[in-house]
Amino acid sequence: MADLDAFKKEVGTRAAGLVTSGMKVGLGTGSTAAHFVRALGERVRSEGLEIVGVPTSRATGDLARECGIALTTLDETPRLDLTIDGADEIDAAMRLIKGGGGAHLREKIVAAASDRMIVIADETKVVETLGKFPLPLEVLDFGLTATLHHVEEAARAHGCGGAIEQRKRPDGGTFVTDEGNAVLDCHFRQIPDPEGLAAALNTVPGLVEHGLFIGMASGALIAGSGGITTMGDL
Ligand code: 5RP
Repeated sequence: MADLDAFKKEVGTRAAGLVTSGMKVGLGTGSTAAHFVRALGERVRSEGLEIVGVPTSRATGDLARECGIALTTLDETPRLDLTIDGADEIDAAMRLIKGGGGAHLREKIVAAASDRMIVIADETKVVETLGKFPLPLEVLDFGLTATLHHVEEAARAHGCGGAIEQRKRPDGGTFVTDEGNAVLDCHFRQIPDPEGLAAALNTVPGLVEHGLFIGMASGALIAGSGGITTMGDL
């Protein structure tokens, strides 16, 4: 575990080096993105880097404020230069599963508003086939069982089966996102057709957002025992 955190810190710090003065930056969520936010805050403090950030969750907003990063919103600043965010899985085509922290709705909105999205991850997140990590779906509480049936149909039609469970907090209570919604975790084990599944899930009423990010990442920094490797354009 200690090594994984060191890898996360390494890519977080490297990613902070990609930010230049004047940039509007999307700030991801999760333990890897937190390293990035801290390293970016350090650059703001020590170099006087002038940037504004849009956080992808309340937790990231709180951390960014603590780190002295000026924040804005997508309403004030609808277009961003760069978003740096973590991922739960990334494949060779830079297709992602996100939402392990339940922030994938805001993360997707922020990434879609950015000219570039760079993923930062440790090497355990790189997979041949997406789906070992349970795919998170943010869903409305209203009609949840009906929504679940639509999701099961969509999944079956795209070669996916397995348990779909409502996410709980560690204390056993229902997990609720920053938007007040529930999360379903889909234990598909493998997703043979991520594009097809994503398109089908996009049509399910009551499903606010799924954690498949396809065609969104422009580059990735992956840290492992051999150092940092890159994918795509940085
Ligand atoms: C949160 C996310 C995170 O980016 C993802 O869960 C990775 O987290 P970590 O860096 O802690 O492994 O999608 O919704």
